[in-house]
Amino acid sequence: MRIVCIGGGPAGLYLAILMKKADPAHEITVVERNRPDDTFGFGVVFSDATLENFAEADRETFDEITRTFAHWDDIDIHYQGQVLTSTGHGFSGLSRQVLLDILQRRCAQLGVRLEFQTEVSDLAPYEDADLISASDGVNSGIRSHYAEHFQPHIDWRPNKFVWLGTTFPFSAFTFIFKESEYGLWRVHAYRYDGRDSTFILETTEETWRRAGLEQASEDDTLAFAGRLFARELGGHQMLKNRSLWRSFPTVKNGRWHYRNIVLVGDAAHTAHFSIGSGTKLAMEDAIALSQALQRHRDVLPALAAYEEERRPQVEGTQRAAQVSLEWFEQTERYYGRLEPVQFAFSLLTRSLRVTHDNLKVRDAKFVATVDRWFAEKATAQSRVTVPAAPPPPPMFTPFRLRDMVLTNRIVVSPMCQYSAEDGTPNDWHLVNLGSRAVGGAALVIAEMTDVSREGRISPGCTGMYKPEHVTAWQRIVEFVHWNSPAKIGLQLAHAGRKGSTRRMWEGIDEPLPEGNWPLISASPMPYLPHSQVPKAMDRRDMDMVREDFVRAARMAEQAGFDMLELHFAHGYLLSSFISPLTNARSDEYGGSPENRMRYPLEVFDAVRAVWPDARPMSVKISATDWVEAGFGAEDAVGVAAMLKARGCDIITVSTGQTVPYAQPVYGRLYQTPLSDRIRHEAGIATMTVGNIGSYTDVNSILAAGRADLCVLARGHLYDPYWTRHAAYEQGYDLPWPSQYESVRNFTPRSP
Ligand SMILES: Cc1cc2nc3c(=O)[nH]c(=O)nc-3n(C[C@H](O)[C@H](O)[C@H](O)COP(=O)(O)OP(=O)(O)OC[C@H]3O[C@@H](n4cnc5c(N)ncnc54)[C@H](O)[C@@H]3O)c2cc1C
Ligand SMILES: Cc1cc2nc3c(=O)[nH]c(=O)nc-3n(C[C@H](O)[C@H](O)[C@H](O)COP(=O)(O)O)c2cc1C
Repeated sequence: MRIVCIGGGPAGLYLAILMKKADPAHEITVVERNRPDDTFGFGVVFSDATLENFAEADRETFDEITRTFAHWDDIDIHYQGQVLTSTGHGFSGLSRQVLLDILQRRCAQLGVRLEFQTEVSDLAPYEDADLISASDGVNSGIRSHYAEHFQPHIDWRPNKFVWLGTTFPFSAFTFIFKESEYGLWRVHAYRYDGRDSTFILETTEETWRRAGLEQASEDDTLAFAGRLFARELGGHQMLKNRSLWRSFPTVKNGRWHYRNIVLVGDAAHTAHFSIGSGTKLAMEDAIALSQALQRHRDVLPALAAYEEERRPQVEGTQRAAQVSLEWFEQTERYYGRLEPVQFAFSLLTRSLRVTHDNLKVRDAKFVATVDRWFAEKATAQSRVTVPAAPPPPPMFTPFRLRDMVLTNRIVVSPMCQYSAEDGTPNDWHLVNLGSRAVGGAALVIAEMTDVSREGRISPGCTGMYKPEHVTAWQRIVEFVHWNSPAKIGLQLAHAGRKGSTRRMWEGIDEPLPEGNWPLISASPMPYLPHSQVPKAMDRRDMDMVREDFVRAARMAEQAGFDMLELHFAHGYLLSSFISPLTNARSDEYGGSPENRMRYPLEVFDAVRAVWPDARPMSVKISATDWVEAGFGAEDAVGVAAMLKARGCDIITVSTGQTVPYAQPVYGRLYQTPLSDRIRHEAGIATMTVGNIGSYTDVNSILAAGRADLCVLARGHLYDPYWTRHAAYEQGYDLPWPSQYESVRNFTPRSP
């Protein structure tokens, strides 16, 4: 086979090595525009796990790499005059030039042709090749030339960064956070050989401009960084090497291959330097591609197999890199607000790949410090003493909202059961909510319960509009109170334009085949094209619905509920006022965010006025519409701040379901970053919900301060005893009800 690798970076060289090794008969050429010893940057970093892959793929290069690298286990975090250390991380640093030398030598040894100082501007000379590897880096000319086939998407990130070096030999992977008169600076630094270290300096565009670096030469930058970090560098020099300020591009491509041309490495995808994965991904691409080419006789199916195998792995890394880069874009949110130990934990778990449990395996002492700190905070917040030695896992610490004290941080999310008759809950609801309270969650929130018959989603929805409702709900509340330490909340709502529809399993959001009732909303816009057109609410409707909420709140108090949640999310009535996509009003209830919040706040105020002072209220919001022109995270911070000012105690941060054409991006903990933002920027407690499935994620979320409570919906359908099982797994003693005492002698076993 004739193979041409355009670009002699790690991707092109390693692919050439692996292919030549697999079959010495292959004729392989690497074409590189630079000279062999031209390189930008300083060091690259690999995790121990990445090195294992290299060992398997080509022992010779692996041996050479490990002969020259600098290995370290610690991460040092410089924050507000302290240095916090976490150990057990296992990374190696290597000079990029040394890596390229190793790869070039191995290519030469195997008989790969290396053509340096050859700029490829046209693929015509390589037409007779069986395979062309577009390994020409982040600015790939081949990718641009065939853009209509590869469909590249480049997301230029807002922060500014520069690659510098220093003669200071950092003994650990080091993050420095430092404030100057211009703003906050972040440093990512690591040693890559016996002497020198990479020193990446990053900041926001505003700080960069304020510092006057827009026009800075390399020497100006060097002098600036040298002055700013004089103390950390202890008299050592800063080094430059094409050290220009850049913005990071996250590169993705719709397709990775076209005809016999295949994208490899940075040409195909990038991952932010804060997770140190660019070179790793490039070399792992080469491993996957060479294996696919060995498995398939023909090139085209091999390229398809390569893309199919690599894409999900790369996308996983890119998701982690995205969360990580956002953390560095938003460090101002945490800096100064978080105490050092929490700041460090937030940083270490930022990509969501490292959790509380992973970190415990790496550095049990550090996690014990975090847990102890968290327990102390919980004691102060809840006014309930939490043992600090040994501290419980964060999820088993108490939390107070007004006079309501929760025994742990797990909440059962409200979930419609569509099983009521004219709004009255029955035995199904008793068993459903009762078993989840016995299952160990500290707070159970009863499903969306409508303030009027016309406010229901479906004929099966629960209500709080008839005297019988109070009695029926009271039976459930009393069961929970008498048989568990759990508290029980009620979610009050009006379905608005999403009302008069079928039960979920008969067709969610689909209008009833018969027996429909008239709908109201902020504006006369149907939810689905074939849904009923709602009436735009006039002032009379507004007064009536507000009074329905007030009456329902009074009834909820009679029934004994501990907390009320108002449903401002998911496209129901109050949500329809908040989102600009569903509110087209021209009066004082439409237009600006303040106007759109006017009616929902009026309802909130009226309910808060009658709901007992000692009992808390939460509001569930859709923190984004998942639509470009819709309601977004920044608006959500504003809404949370308005609610906080009116006496709302906690926000449940959900998203979407406001319009049917939204494009949500689902994934593990996909709504948690919004909770984190609202919690810090609006300064209000939050509940995070959405794809939370593991106790280690819960502990990570809490310890990092991304939310105060973790809410599980489907997780609790799957396992009503989720909290009990999490306690067992963590060796935490959660008392069982007396009736179940004998379970203590039972050892659960997996099949
Ligand atoms: C300063 C710096 C430091 C970095 N540090 C790290 C790190 O610590 N860890 C990490 O994992 N990643 C790091 N990265 C990212 C990493 O360098 C890239 O992800 C990795 O090099 C990608 O390998 P590649 O072979 O795909 O691309 P590149 O290494 O960019 O190689 C592409 C090659 O193609 C050549 N080329 C481009 N166009 C043409 C053309 N038309 N004709 C001929 N040749 C061409 C270029 O000269 C270049 O040599 C760093 C990047 C920079 C810029
Ligand atoms: C069957 C079902 C019914 C739901 N009903 C409600 C509801 O009544 N009120 C509400 O705010 N959210 C409701 N939701 C949304 C959940 O409360 C939660 O926000 C969402 O499912 C994401 O959490 P999860 O990933 O843990 O399931 C419902 C979800 C499910 C699966």
